[in-house]
Amino acid sequence: MIFETHAHYEDERFDEDRDELLSSMHEHGIGTIVNVGASLDSVKKSISLASQYDFIYAAAGVHPSDISCLDEAAYSWLQEQVKHPKVVAVGEIGLDYYWDKEESIQKKQRSWFRKQLELAEKTGLPVIIHSRDAAEDTLAIMKEAYAKHITGVIHCFSYSAQLAEEYVRMGFYIGVGGVVTFKNAKKLKEVVSRIPLERILLETDCPYMAPEPYRGKRNSSLYLPYVVQKIAEIKGVSEQEVADITQQNAKSMYRL
Ligand code: NI
Repeated sequence: MIFETHAHYEDERFDEDRDELLSSMHEHGIGTIVNVGASLDSVKKSISLASQYDFIYAAAGVHPSDISCLDEAAYSWLQEQVKHPKVVAVGEIGLDYYWDKEESIQKKQRSWFRKQLELAEKTGLPVIIHSRDAAEDTLAIMKEAYAKHITGVIHCFSYSAQLAEEYVRMGFYIGVGGVVTFKNAKKLKEVVSRIPLERILLETDCPYMAPEPYRGKRNSSLYLPYVVQKIAEIKGVSEQEVADITQQNAKSMYRL
């Protein structure tokens, strides 16, 4: 069975067929799903989905592009949410300098990133990191997290193989999704070839990032076999081995 480590099924693009789609996961080889919150609303909806389906778990955290919703009250609410029995990670949290170029906003992002890492430190939960155009600052903050024994995944990894190896040395996982199937994804293919399979997690980030041959369409966990196939090809191992090992990786990180 495939373990989907990063999905957003609360997204309105699944309103039409959410239940039908989720009910068909097992028969298509998808065993477990972690639905990841990115805003206060999606955290609430992720926990509600996790409560509804036994094979779905939730992650609770606020995405760097959504931090304007955070204040002390929202943070204490979040602190309560991470105690829910089906919440298995704090995320997605991190830095996104692609959408926010202003220094004052970037500073706020760093502050809320550190504050949400404290939730992980207190609860012992792993973190799901979103990082875009912010390689240096993310690494610096994750080194602090590593020193505090926080574990986790750098999701939708978009940086160099060298940087991936640095995260792997600290015991973090690297999230790989549809992008690895794109023709122009040279960098991510190099990442996959250089890091051990034991450090890779499968993810879709659906409804975004559909793999070839569905690039640009609505993504879902049902397309993960295309990602498995590409990783197997790069690593020179069987698709079964990729599915099995990445499933073990996810179970061990999320402690399931
Ligand atoms: Ni995401």
